[in-house]
Amino acid sequence: MEKVKVALVGAGNIANQHLESYKNVADAEVYAICDIDPVRLKMTADKFDIERRYPDIDSMLKDLPELDAADVCVWNCSHAECSIKALNAGLHVLCEKPMAYNTEQAVQMQEAAKKNNKLLMIGFVLRFSDDAKIAKDFIDQGYLGDIYYAKAQYIRRHGNPGGWFGDSSRSGGGPLIDLGVHVIDFVRYLKGKPKAVSVYGATFQKLYDRKNIRSQKAYRSSGAAEHDICDVEDLATALIRFEDGSVLSVEASFSLNIKNDEGKMIFCGTKAGAALNPELELYGELDGYMTDISLKAETTMNFSDIFRQEIFHFVDCIENGTECLSPAEDGVEMMRILNAIYESARCGHEVLLK
Ligand SMILES: NC(=O)c1ccc[n+]([C@@H]2O[C@H](COP(=O)([O-])OP(=O)(O)OC[C@H]3O[C@@H](n4cnc5c(N)ncnc54)[C@H](O)[C@@H]3O)[C@@H](O)[C@H]2O)c1
Repeated sequence: MEKVKVALVGAGNIANQHLESYKNVADAEVYAICDIDPVRLKMTADKFDIERRYPDIDSMLKDLPELDAADVCVWNCSHAECSIKALNAGLHVLCEKPMAYNTEQAVQMQEAAKKNNKLLMIGFVLRFSDDAKIAKDFIDQGYLGDIYYAKAQYIRRHGNPGGWFGDSSRSGGGPLIDLGVHVIDFVRYLKGKPKAVSVYGATFQKLYDRKNIRSQKAYRSSGAAEHDICDVEDLATALIRFEDGSVLSVEASFSLNIKNDEGKMIFCGTKAGAALNPELELYGELDGYMTDISLKAETTMNFSDIFRQEIFHFVDCIENGTECLSPAEDGVEMMRILNAIYESARCGHEVLLK
């Protein structure tokens, strides 16, 4: 059987992570790559030995009608443009998170996928860990009871990546759209994807990107430079109310005066609780005593493993018609929530979602 011919759109940090993953997916071949930055393009194409390399997506799509799929790993502001071009050229698309720069663009992407009858998968990579699968299984079987409260944190003390991440015209926002998107989506996914009905959000721009701090950053953009613009929030917090009456409290930061960076999610149900910290733990009761259970999953939220599983799933969906675990509609719902939180932070009161 012929391998799925995939084109990488973007040759930066996360494209490198995706490319590592494709090495382990036997049914796909990385057929081509494009990037508007010639230095990045050459560096990545050389590293992964990709011969067909292009300065932009248009020339690549025009030259290679035999492509089957595009893997979009560019700045957030270009997700929609690149994905729609690839979908209109008849390709299946995996697009990195957040789905788009805003809800309108996300809806246009979803429509393009529908019109062309192609897969549009969103890179909600946290969904692909074994811990996530086990936690979802427990929740679906009712072990936690009714989950009425959840808390999600993705907070960095000194972790504004710089480069385009701090430039709202290219990113669409700061830690909320970059980090919060992961944990909000994850909580919603585990809870069975309830619709959000209202949000109350607040964002702060107090510490900026802490250019004065000499200690190493948690994550640094490949395009980071000394005089990078920083006009995004450095902390976002929100309360999200879902249609089932449950509430999610979220915190996401690039810069914050805390002791340690944290990435954890807590689910509080009527029968038991669960936390992914990132390993999965359950908090319940046995024979009148409070008990904690820790699970031994095969993989935890290890970066390489979860990306490998995500890419494997993308190719499996294309080849075998497997139902997509992170479809476009979930990306659209996330953009609605993120945009509403930013709107609430701007206007200072609760925002209702229709
Ligand atoms: N899933 C995750 O955990 C995760 C982690 C990091 C980044 N990301 C996402 O991946 C995307 C890329 O982030 P990154 O860290 O790799 O950034 P990066 O700056 O390292 O790479 C982005 C690349 O895209 C290129 N580019 C921008 N617009 C383009 C266009 N129109 N056509 C072709 N190339 C274009 C840039 O030149 C750059 O080389 C972002 O959307 C980000 O949110 C996801």
